[in-house]
Amino acid sequence: MSAAAVFGASGGIGQALAAGLAASGRYDRVYAGARRAQANTFTFDLEDEASIAAAITAMPEIPETWIVASGLLHDTSRAISPEKSLSAMDGATMARVLAVNAIGPALIAKHLLKRLPRDRRSVFAVLSARVGSIGDNRLGGWHAYRASKAALNMLMVNFAIEMRRTHSQAIIVALHPGTVESDLSAPFRGAVPESRLFSPEISAAHLLQVIDGLTPADSGGFFAWDGARIPW
Ligand SMILES: NC(=O)c1ccc[n+]([C@@H]2O[C@H](COP(=O)([O-])OP(=O)(O)OC[C@H]3O[C@@H](n4cnc5c(N)ncnc54)[C@H](OP(=O)(O)O)[C@@H]3O)[C@@H](O)[C@H]2O)c1
Repeated sequence: MSAAAVFGASGGIGQALAAGLAASGRYDRVYAGARRAQANTFTFDLEDEASIAAAITAMPEIPETWIVASGLLHDTSRAISPEKSLSAMDGATMARVLAVNAIGPALIAKHLLKRLPRDRRSVFAVLSARVGSIGDNRLGGWHAYRASKAALNMLMVNFAIEMRRTHSQAIIVALHPGTVESDLSAPFRGAVPESRLFSPEISAAHLLQVIDGLTPADSGGFFAWDGARIPW
């Protein structure tokens, strides 16, 4: 018997990941989590640690595969949009983007990782973004989002190192889903050629294939949708 869980299952990619996991035939149960209650979902808010702890504690089992598919790039209702320049930076916006993209997933890890099985393979994968790679940054801009994903990537390396001591079969990774048609990318994909734009379903299928192929030696890595390593 096996199970998987997705945090952020209301999002474009998260929804497709939950559906893909369920359709894969590899899991007996798939737990889908969202900020607002929907049919068959657990609820959590990345900016509310107690809700994260409660969601994990309330699960009838600890699945061996976990994907964090939440994230924040823009939010017009709060005047959040990616900065093109130094002068566009705003402290409250930066704090919120860091809270959702880096601190929230870290708090999921805090309440989950030590509960993963020690006697078999387990996976904790977070959706990061190639633009969070420090080594790959040639364009600049998007200060808060890039910094939040770079912070997330660093946290995954840290957690992989810590987990190796007690959970030698645990795999902790950051994944880049490609450029995907979703609310998050909608205002920014004008210049992206059709051939490099994935539907959420195609991206999810790629990501699940990458996850299936991971081994404990990959823990701490940052991988793109095609399985290629991305520099930190
Ligand atoms: N789309 C792309 O081209 C692309 C490229 C690179 C990386 N990514 C990364 O892939 C991930 C998924 O992106 P997406 O395209 O699927 O975006 P999306 O459709 O906008 O989904 C974002 C998800 O994050 C959730 N979320 C935001 N704030 C939250 C909070 N405080 N608590 C709980 N959940 C919260 C949203 O929940 P609500 O529905 O409640 O708002 C939604 O489920 C993100 O980490 C993104 O950075 C995407």
